[in-house]
Amino acid sequence: MSKRIWISLVGTTVLVAAGLLLAQPGPGPGGRRGRGMGPQGGQGIQNRVPTAKNAKEKAILDVLDEMDRNQRGGNMNVPMEDGRLLRLLAESIGAKHVVEIGTSNGYSGLWQCLALKATGGRLTTFEIDAGRAAMARENFKRAGVDGIVTLVEGDAHEKVVEVVGPVDIAFIDADKEGYTDYLTKLLPKVRPGGLIIAHNVNPQMADAEFVQAITTNPDLETIFYAQGGGVSVTLKKRGME
Ligand SMILES: C[S@@+](CC[C@H](N)C(=O)[O-])C[C@H]1O[C@@H](n2cnc3c(N)ncnc32)[C@H](O)[C@@H]1O
Repeated sequence: MSKRIWISLVGTTVLVAAGLLLAQPGPGPGGRRGRGMGPQGGQGIQNRVPTAKNAKEKAILDVLDEMDRNQRGGNMNVPMEDGRLLRLLAESIGAKHVVEIGTSNGYSGLWQCLALKATGGRLTTFEIDAGRAAMARENFKRAGVDGIVTLVEGDAHEKVVEVVGPVDIAFIDADKEGYTDYLTKLLPKVRPGGLIIAHNVNPQMADAEFVQAITTNPDLETIFYAQGGGVSVTLKKRGME
């Protein structure tokens, strides 16, 4: 993709993201700002940590907060803003089945579980590293979401073919050169109107073949969300009949 097209896509995305961020509720009771969350898009506009609506949300948010403070080292977690974006997208499309490639210690999975608790949905998540998988199991348990999470340990390139659709969201955040393979295997299982979301899709890290695949297929509509680690959001279009 040419640099001009990339810059124009990023510009569009920043506008969309600003709209999403402006729609968020105000500060919580403590008035705390989120870690690493600076002003967004204008003076006086800034992200605030989410305010728990009920005890279940609070249990998940408390674990996420603890992970943010103590477990980031070596676990390659998405930035908090990207986790919040995943939650917003999953809850807003009423996702019932999210498939995640790259669990790590469960950080991004927990953000998605915030949505899935509300929608009555479930998460299937894949992790090849036994140590991180063990941490994720523990984190899911103490956040009270282990009942809605299936963690598949092993190489997702092999195991993802066992996923039974329909899938509402496929979230890809593992080996970057494998993104096209994951897309090829998951796209037929994603329902029309569902999303394929990929992390670290930015000018430094994006896999060119994957970017080509999500930006040239007429069945797909993709924008790039430039804030945070760089996220591509791809809609699998419904039929136009
Ligand atoms: C960037 S981290 C995921 C971070 C996680 N999504 C989060 O934000 O908390 C990528 C993870 O993918 C895992 N991974 C890499 N290749 C994999 C494969 N072939 N199958 C399953 N997991 C894989 C790595 O072990 C690593 O834990």
